Amino acid sequence: MAEPKENVVMEKIVSLCKRRGFIFQSSEIYGGINGFWDYGPLGAELKRNVKELWWNSMMRQREDVVGLEATIIMHPQIWKASGHVDTFADLMRECPLTKKRVRADQVEPQSGMVYSYPGALKSTIDPYVVGGEVLMNYDFEKEALNLFLKETLAGSLAEIKDEEIKKYAEMVLKNLGPDIVSQTAFPKFVDQIVSRVAARLNPNKISVLVPLGKPVESARKTAVQYFEKSDFPSPILLGESGVKVENSIDFHPESGVMLSEARPFNLMLQTWVGPIQSDENIAYLRPETAQAIFAQFKNVMDTSRQKVPFGIGQVGKAFRNEVTPRNYTFRSREFEQMELEFFIKPDEVIEAISGSVATVPETGHPGEPQANWGWQAWHQYWVEERVRFYEGIGLDRSTLGFHRQTPAELAHYARACVDILFKFPFSKKDEQGNVVGDELEGIAARSDFDLSQHARFSGKQMGVFDDELRVAWGKLDEAKKSALSKRYYEARLKYLTKCGVAQEKAEKDAKADAEGLAKGQYIPHVIEPSAGVDRLILALIANAYSETVKTDDKGKSEIIYVMKFHPRVAPIKIGVMPLLKNKPELVAKAIEVRDLLRPWMNVFYDETGSIGKRYARQDEAGTPFCATIDFDTLGEKGPELKDTVTIRHRDDGRQERIAIADLLNWLVPKIR
Ligand code: GAP
Repeated sequence: MAEPKENVVMEKIVSLCKRRGFIFQSSEIYGGINGFWDYGPLGAELKRNVKELWWNSMMRQREDVVGLEATIIMHPQIWKASGHVDTFADLMRECPLTKKRVRADQVEPQSGMVYSYPGALKSTIDPYVVGGEVLMNYDFEKEALNLFLKETLAGSLAEIKDEEIKKYAEMVLKNLGPDIVSQTAFPKFVDQIVSRVAARLNPNKISVLVPLGKPVESARKTAVQYFEKSDFPSPILLGESGVKVENSIDFHPESGVMLSEARPFNLMLQTWVGPIQSDENIAYLRPETAQAIFAQFKNVMDTSRQKVPFGIGQVGKAFRNEVTPRNYTFRSREFEQMELEFFIKPDEVIEAISGSVATVPETGHPGEPQANWGWQAWHQYWVEERVRFYEGIGLDRSTLGFHRQTPAELAHYARACVDILFKFPFSKKDEQGNVVGDELEGIAARSDFDLSQHARFSGKQMGVFDDELRVAWGKLDEAKKSALSKRYYEARLKYLTKCGVAQEKAEKDAKADAEGLAKGQYIPHVIEPSAGVDRLILALIANAYSETVKTDDKGKSEIIYVMKFHPRVAPIKIGVMPLLKNKPELVAKAIEVRDLLRPWMNVFYDETGSIGKRYARQDEAGTPFCATIDFDTLGEKGPELKDTVTIRHRDDGRQERIAIADLLNWLVPKIR
């Protein structure tokens, strides 16, 4: 069967997710709410498994990482310190007609004819009295203005004070057609018309792109709608001009209207804490879970008796008012993150203690952590640990991609950042035709920026004391001390000046920080592997999705869907089924098997429909194994098969018999 097209695959995935209860649109009965998604029974299990696996592998299986569960709403100063209040923004452009916004970096290039209308006149007119006659007709106004502007305004442009009106008057003058109204009648009404013209000129302008071959009327229609919305009933368009453009990113993809200038749009969702909705009470729904870890760094370190290097992990909700939520759950407004902040010693401290900083290759796992690892080794270590995690839940390395941020992409404080990508059905291809992938997780080496910021904003100490450093420092020769102090001083000075601290104070503070090394004091650096739960769920669903066409003996075809989840993440681990539901002995045995397994895993008991249909239902849910209780289980064919079940494997339909007594030992290693 030919491979279905990418967007077709996504459509099928979305449809299966709804049909089988993985993912629903939030508030669907009210038409949904853009950027919000609910997880149904299977999705909720899948998500829970993923979060537990992350927590288990990042924390419980390690000595050097502990957990945190912080609140979603925190002191607003946290977001000042982190930079989110001032800089967590997307550059947006707005369609002046529909007010719809698009991210400035996501406007698709378009080609066609651009028609521009620098203004319009209101055509609803008050009566003009000309020579004792009341003239209300629309043409009259238009023609009157033609004449007025041409014959009179041309001579008195200099007298118009308002710059906007003057600009438009000049433009209108330049674009006027032949006048019709008698030239002699008009000068009398000049004053009257001047004020009317001023009031009726719309200072807004609009440009509309129409694809080549489409009539100009569609542009006019759009422009008329625009002026009508700007309180210009039945507008008369002024000064139409047309120009051909190619691959322009200045027009809204739906309306064709020229977009506004790009403006920053903060992505944090805000609320008020307490009964008074005033500026002092503004608080934010956290846009990342990471900041709570920095804010609680000292408390966690002191209470968990951890020493640097060590990490703090957190799983939880985050909120971003994404301007264009898209690609199903990929970019949502409410989502979950799994973040680790792994605190390490600065390289100068490692060098003081270990003599030198280890160098590791830029690719491949560097092995077990070593005392002489600096930020580069730790960063590489976490990239590879995270890839191993993905491999361990069924995402083969070939389904992943990597993007190492360029110096231009990196934040000023960051040393490196590697994004782990997954090749989603909607991911774009590069020039060579290879699918690039979209971000699942970013692993950033963030220097000491975050702790330093919270130290500055809270006035609290965020540094640590390390006796090993104090002792080692005392043994260094003067040249080494001075070289390390100088490097530390320069790094601190760079940070402080970048953050706007006045030069004199920055130098003083950086000097004090560098002097702290001798006393065993420093501010830890951090490596941050930050993953999105929902993106990972989508990746697992896309990776698991498979369809085949099955044709029966009569030539009737149907599509068979199988969700090939790794048993570790599969929402249901095993389906337990009596062969027939009207045989009480089979049912009783099946329930016994279900109850044996239930304390250890999510089991689905199913007794309705043919066994083939029941297998197919479990295949769609992604259940890796089914256990069927049949007459052999009851020992009807002989004692050797008594108390065994048929295990049917989802991916290849293979069947084997396993003793009920061995079932748990057989299953548990496969699903953990
Ligand atoms: N603390 C660092 C941080 O939050 P990020 O790259 O903005 O970094 C980390 O987010 C991860 O969170 C991303 O790799 C992605 O998996 C997930 N994520 C971010 N924005 C998201 C959104 N709007 N919808 C779903 N997941 C998102």
